[in-house]
Parts: sequence; C-alpha cells; structure tokens
Amino acid sequence: PRKIILDCDPGHDDAIAIMLALASPELEVLGITTTYGNVSLERTTRNALVVQEILGTSVGVYPGAERPLVRERISAELVHGISGLEGPSLPQPRQKPQDKHAVHFIIESVLAHPGEVTLVPVGPLTNVALALRLQPRIAPAIREIVLMGGSIDIGNYSPSAEFNILCDPHAAKIVFEAGIPLVMMGLNLTHQTPATPERVARFRALGTRTGAFTAELLEFFKIHHQQRYGFAGAPIHDACAVAYLLRGELFKTGPYHVEIEANEGLAFGRTVCDYWRVTGKAPNCEVGLHIDAEGFYDLLVERIGTYG
Ligand code: BDR
Ligand code: CA
Repeated sequence: PRKIILDCDPGHDDAIAIMLALASPELEVLGITTTYGNVSLERTTRNALVVQEILGTSVGVYPGAERPLVRERISAELVHGISGLEGPSLPQPRQKPQDKHAVHFIIESVLAHPGEVTLVPVGPLTNVALALRLQPRIAPAIREIVLMGGSIDIGNYSPSAEFNILCDPHAAKIVFEAGIPLVMMGLNLTHQTPATPERVARFRALGTRTGAFTAELLEFFKIHHQQRYGFAGAPIHDACAVAYLLRGELFKTGPYHVEIEANEGLAFGRTVCDYWRVTGKAPNCEVGLHIDAEGFYDLLVERIGTYG
C-alpha cells in the first residue's frame, strides 16, 4: 500500500477524507497530523480523535501548527459550526493525541521512507511549509503532495482565494515552490461534488452508525453552501484528494504553472494558474479539472460502508 500522511483540520469534509483513507487497503496511513484551520488546533485535533472513536480506528494523531507563519489566523466557524463538526452528536474520544509535534512526525516519516511517503494536506499548508524549512532534506524525499486547496478560478472565503490557501499564503508559496511533485484539487474540481439529498440518502441507507454520522455531517455542511452559494449540497472537498490516490481514473488533470499571491491585497492567497500558458513558465503542478462525481460517490459509499 501507498504510505500517506493526512494533514487536516477537521472539519466536516476532512472527517470524510479520514474515513475514506482509513477504510482503504490501498493506503497505509502513517499518521494524521492536525493544524489550526476551520477551527482552533485544539478542536481540530479533538475532532480527528472523535472521528476515529466513531470508526473504531486508532491511527496516531499528531498536533501541529496553532497559527499561520506571518498573517493573522482566520477560521471557518460559519461553515463548520463552533466545534468544527457541528451536526451529529459527538462521542468523547478515548484516544489521546501523540506528544510528538506534527512537523517532527512529517520529517521523521519522510526520512525513514525516502521516496515513499505521499503528503495529503487538506487544510492550511503551515505544517508542510514548516517541515520543509526545518529539514530541507525532506523535499527530494517526498514522493508527492496531493492537496486540497486553491482554485483555477474563483475563491470561496474571499472573491479571489480558497480558504486553505488564504489561511497561510506564505506557507502555500513555500510548498508550491519546493519542486516536489504536486497535485492540486481546487474548488474548480471539488465544487463538482455536491452532496445532494439523493447522495446523502445513500449514506443513511447503509444502516450503520458511520453511515448516519456521515449523513448528519453532510446535512449540517449543506446549510452554509446552500445559503451562500445556492448549491444543492455541500461539496466534499477534502475527500477528493484521497479519492485521487485510490481512483485516478475518475479524474481529469493537467500540468500547469501555479503561483501563490502572497502579497496582501485583493488577490491575497490566490492560486494563480497559467491556464493558457502565457508565461512560458514550466508546470509545477498537476491541476484537477474534472471529477466523475458519480464514481466518487460510489467509492465513498462502498468504503464508508465497511465501518460499523
Ligand atoms: C476547504 O476549506 C475547509 O473549510 C474545508 O475543510 C476544505 O478543506 C475548502 O475551501
Ligand atoms: Ca479541510
């Protein structure tokens, strides 16, 4: 199986990314690292443990960055609720977070398995950027980074920028300029995956605790997406990055040059994608363009259906 580290800020869609990854025999999840993001680090870390309490899994959870490198912290309680996982009732987790910092865990894991570890960041990129700065030797040893963040067109948290990148544009700049094989699943792709009532019903129909939990997450997550954007359901952004590793054939991608706007201003945090190849700069990123949403939901229902 392919070794991955899931770096996340759960988060409704992060929770579903965790479920998909931990249910997939094609992947070996070395650890789950957490970051501030949708809510505080304390809450995202707790939520990663809460999700595993429901799944009955016990992969190590390593807490990471509490705030961005330079800018002030922003968050998304408006979207994910106060706890970050509003909607379902949440059990008390029995597992405790690991003592090791996420950044050290990333560095040690990559150096222990050179060329083998894929990083899957689905929150702000602060942990990955800190790891690259603290131990630059990891850059050539990382197999690939498959992230959820950015967009080739419009943003969500600002007109220009997607939330994860806007949380820490300076960190994103470090990651996009590191010369590591990079795949970007941005809003232009993830917005193709609305959890419509019919799709939510498929999770409920599993008749399991995890199926009901997933449906309840998606019902809460829909509220903001319906009110603000008029979507028929919440996009399951973060699970797209994991699904890409499992079923690449569901995706259409292309190589582009993507640069991060890290200057404060109207486009702060934008992933500027040279879609028409006008700069002549070599591609640094494989950009997700299209996803077979039906195939994606078939995969999610199948894998989430393996839990009790
Ligand atoms: C991203 O922001 C977060 O709210 C989601 O978990 C996802 O990672 C989408 O912009
Ligand atoms: Ca996330």
